[in-house]
Amino acid sequence: MQITPMTEHTGAQVHDLDLSQPATDDIRRVLNDAFLAHHVLAIRGQTLTPPQVLQAVSLFGEVFHQHNTRFALPDCPQIHYLSNQDSFPDGRRYIPGEGWHTDHSNDIRPPKATVLHAVKLPSRGGDTQFANMAAAYDALPDETKERLAPLMAIHVYQSSHSARKLMTLSEANKERVPNAVLHPLVRTHPENGRKSIYVNPIRIEGIVGLDHKEALPLLSELIEHATQERFQYRHAWQPGDLVIWDNRCLLHKANGDYDMNEVRYLYRVMLQGDVPQ
Ligand code: SIN
Repeated sequence: MQITPMTEHTGAQVHDLDLSQPATDDIRRVLNDAFLAHHVLAIRGQTLTPPQVLQAVSLFGEVFHQHNTRFALPDCPQIHYLSNQDSFPDGRRYIPGEGWHTDHSNDIRPPKATVLHAVKLPSRGGDTQFANMAAAYDALPDETKERLAPLMAIHVYQSSHSARKLMTLSEANKERVPNAVLHPLVRTHPENGRKSIYVNPIRIEGIVGLDHKEALPLLSELIEHATQERFQYRHAWQPGDLVIWDNRCLLHKANGDYDMNEVRYLYRVMLQGDVPQ
């Protein structure tokens, strides 16, 4: 197995590994160490069925049950799909994941990781961008770090401030999803101890103790700072990629910049995380 970093701070590609075969403890350890070190792993050249994807991701953790079951595969509901072929009820095309975000931060224990496996890709475009929130935190001025330290953000399924709208939850799904949860604006990675900015433009409704006039500009400034190109890794998908990323220290976003007559379809599974601290 070859592991090659993609940037100095984020992303590595993994070659010469067949995830359809059982992995040894050594492979598991090396992969998990690489995941912690690089935050995004692109494991190249895989052709996995949904059960094989579940087997492969069990190397990294336990499956997290996604909130909106609308996209679950009927024969393997722990796996969901991402597709550019779905539409909102009003007929507009739905591009999942457009706009910077971190997954399911409105959960008490948001998923530590998300995994996508490319099944069908457009001939060009459709990259996924990642921004490293630990590097962005390190680059903040000390006075901003002090200001953020005590602040808790209110995360909901769909922020009323978000330009990007999500598919609505069914009544059954709504019952499983908390109305609102509080998470720190700066979280400490449970495995490597690094601090990260923890923001999510589609989910944060406000900041405890600040009115919107103060909270919204602060959130916008943080997003603008944290998503600068210097903190980014941009993943250009190749057929057969299985990509796993660390939601505890990254934001990510999809790009709907390709020919929509072409299909972009990926399997998606998330892994259980901890309560952000
Ligand atoms: C996501 O936000 O999970 C989707 C990312 C992508 O489709 O590139």
